[in-house]
Amino acid sequence: MEFFATASSGTERALQNELIELGFKSVRLNSGGTPFFGEIEDGWKACLQTRIAQRIQLVLKRFLAPSENDLYEGVKSIDWTPYLTTDHTLAVSAFCHSSYLTHTNYIAQKAKDAIVDQLREIHGSRPNVDRDEPDVRIFIFLGNNKATVYLDMCAKPLFQRGYRLEKGEAPLKETLAAAMLMYSGWDRNTVLWDPMCGSGTIAIEAGLWAKNISPGVFREQFGFERWANFDDNAAETMKRLRGECRRDATGNMPKIIASDSDPAVLEIARENAKRAGLKITFREARLEDIQADGAKRIIVTNPPFNERMGVDTEFYRKMGAAFTRLHGCRVGFITANPAALKSIFVKPVQMFPMKNGNLDCEFAVYDIP
Ligand SMILES: C[S@@+](CC[C@H](N)C(=O)[O-])C[C@H]1O[C@@H](n2cnc3c(N)ncnc32)[C@H](O)[C@@H]1O
Repeated sequence: MEFFATASSGTERALQNELIELGFKSVRLNSGGTPFFGEIEDGWKACLQTRIAQRIQLVLKRFLAPSENDLYEGVKSIDWTPYLTTDHTLAVSAFCHSSYLTHTNYIAQKAKDAIVDQLREIHGSRPNVDRDEPDVRIFIFLGNNKATVYLDMCAKPLFQRGYRLEKGEAPLKETLAAAMLMYSGWDRNTVLWDPMCGSGTIAIEAGLWAKNISPGVFREQFGFERWANFDDNAAETMKRLRGECRRDATGNMPKIIASDSDPAVLEIARENAKRAGLKITFREARLEDIQADGAKRIIVTNPPFNERMGVDTEFYRKMGAAFTRLHGCRVGFITANPAALKSIFVKPVQMFPMKNGNLDCEFAVYDIP
């Protein structure tokens, strides 16, 4: 079976490394995500284990669709009965480029018609559409008149781990935080510090990774657990896989420090860490008060990036000065603001362009001499 693990822009390489490290087969690199191959159980495992993918999708079919009829017939030729009964709800969305059909809503509508027509012919009635919380979510990608039909395996996107019930301002997606940790080169043994931790996302993701806690164990149900073919045997297998994930969570967590100047947001971070079952060292501290103590640490952080968050050139000057005092440490931060990059007088070891929501950002990594 072919799967596609979707990634937010710029995190594809980190996702590819992660899936290879987790033992998935034939992991390739594409823009927007990484395809991999395996048995259906591998798709389930990926949902449980990946920290970086946004979604895991099962590829159902690829076919040429130069006309709306070809699209309709191609979608209808897939056997939908393993996934949908008439009691299920479904949602179809589409993405297209350089094709005869150009309206994504129309493509989605045609595909949905093909699916419900097939089921009506078999059962005499059809499943309903639920755009917000469907049992089964289908994606159609149409590029250069070639259609690919994907079945979403996750339901809620995977960054919604479940531990972060409250957030500060401008929280990072958990999946992006995990990709930053991987790109930073952190070895999961060195002391890690986020000095502008907000709701604690980076510190918590670091703790989960170090302890080898699969993020999926926080989830009660994935999308595929609602498919028509998810029977008692499948449920038993999934129970076993969840159990294996819990048993494998035996990693040692080094000291992880999370500090922020805002006591209210620190309280939120503390609660989030508690829900994730992690002992993080929280401190109320201003970045500009950081002094080097000679300890080797890795700093991974997400500084504020605009005036709305109270930052100006002076803030970045202080940030640059603080980081430059951390001799012997590695510092990685994500920013959409060029002034933040200019504030560090050391050349970055590496820069990783990535999107944070709609913002074009860099994740810049420095070794402070
Ligand atoms: C973009 S937010 C971090 C969001 C965080 N990554 C999350 O996922 O919730 C930036 C954080 O920097 C903190 N901050 C702003 N100025 C600071 C300073 N001078 N020292 C320490 N923290 C500061 C803010 O309180 C805010 O929580």
